[in-house]
Amino acid sequence: MTKINAAITAIHSYLPDNVLTNKDLEQMVDTTDEWITTRTGIKERRILKGKGVGTSDMAAEAVKGLLEKRGIGPEEIDMLVCTTVTPDMKFPATANVISDKTGINNAFSYDLNAACSGFIYGLVTAANFVELGKYKKVVVVGADKMSSIVDYTDRQTCVIFGDGASALLLEPTTEDLGVMGHKFETDGSGRVHLHMKAGGSVKPPSHETIDAREHYVYQEGQAVFKFAVTNMADVTLALMKENNLDGRDISWLVPHQANMRIIEATARRANVPMDRVMVNIQRYGNTTNATIPLCLWEYEKQMKKGDNIILTAFGGGFTWGAVWLKWAYDPS
Ligand code: UT7
Repeated sequence: MTKINAAITAIHSYLPDNVLTNKDLEQMVDTTDEWITTRTGIKERRILKGKGVGTSDMAAEAVKGLLEKRGIGPEEIDMLVCTTVTPDMKFPATANVISDKTGINNAFSYDLNAACSGFIYGLVTAANFVELGKYKKVVVVGADKMSSIVDYTDRQTCVIFGDGASALLLEPTTEDLGVMGHKFETDGSGRVHLHMKAGGSVKPPSHETIDAREHYVYQEGQAVFKFAVTNMADVTLALMKENNLDGRDISWLVPHQANMRIIEATARRANVPMDRVMVNIQRYGNTTNATIPLCLWEYEKQMKKGDNIILTAFGGGFTWGAVWLKWAYDPS
């Protein structure tokens, strides 16, 4: 039987207009443009403003643009997966809301949460459905309104994160293209270093949790940094080795955009020169689930059919992993 692969056939993104620069942050917390730039590589990030708007609003814009770009209607979509740590609400799934806002009503949809690794986990999960042969058009959305869970009085975290959404379409192909391989790992003991303290079933929201500012991202930056540098590079190298790839075979490395120093260290270990590494952290910061597809979208015109691409991420959980793609189309 011919093997069915899941190929990315279109990609689109949405970024809020509002820009929060390092200079703006200098007015808000005790920080400097120089510190943020040298320690993270970030110069500015986008923030979704407005009452009553959330992750699904950005995601819906990305999905509408995606469908238009591919020239298909929402009724043709079979399945939609949304990866996010900032769902519109605890339930229903933000994927259900996105489907409703975009007219995707012949599909099933659900959310998947693996923190900053969520998008690559969601991509492979969705690819498996396509590979079954039953699902022909599957949307994967990575979207986060990080500004809704960032404490803008905490200089250690507020300089890092931004808002954004990106969506891609997976379709079956019998060509040797698409999602070719992956390697995922988790270590739940790492949760102590990066989490949100309250709002879940262990510590439901209360006046006390609000007073203690426990509904924001808690991150021990240095500890996370150390694990991220090691694990992102290790998993990337392991995936490459498993598939007999070396740095010269890789057309593009697409690292999660958490810190420029982590990106550079991963590229060095994978032996991929920086001119083949996708980077846009300087303009968007860490948009959690949107970083990797935002890169693919921005570099879309530079990728060619058959290019070997490695996606790699590390995040809360701890979760980490890498995906090997063979890009499925030439720039139009
Ligand atoms: O995407 C999910 C996974 N997350 C990550 O991968 C993030 C990994 N961690 C990081 O990217 C970095 O650890 C940070 C960017 C968060 C922090 O950078 P760092 O180089 O690890 O700084 P640090 O926490 O070691 O702090 C160094 C100094 C401290 O001052 P003292 O104790 O040396 O006097 C901090 O208080 O920098 C201070 N500092 C700041 N100074 C100015 C911390 N944040 C700031 C700030 N502006 N925004």
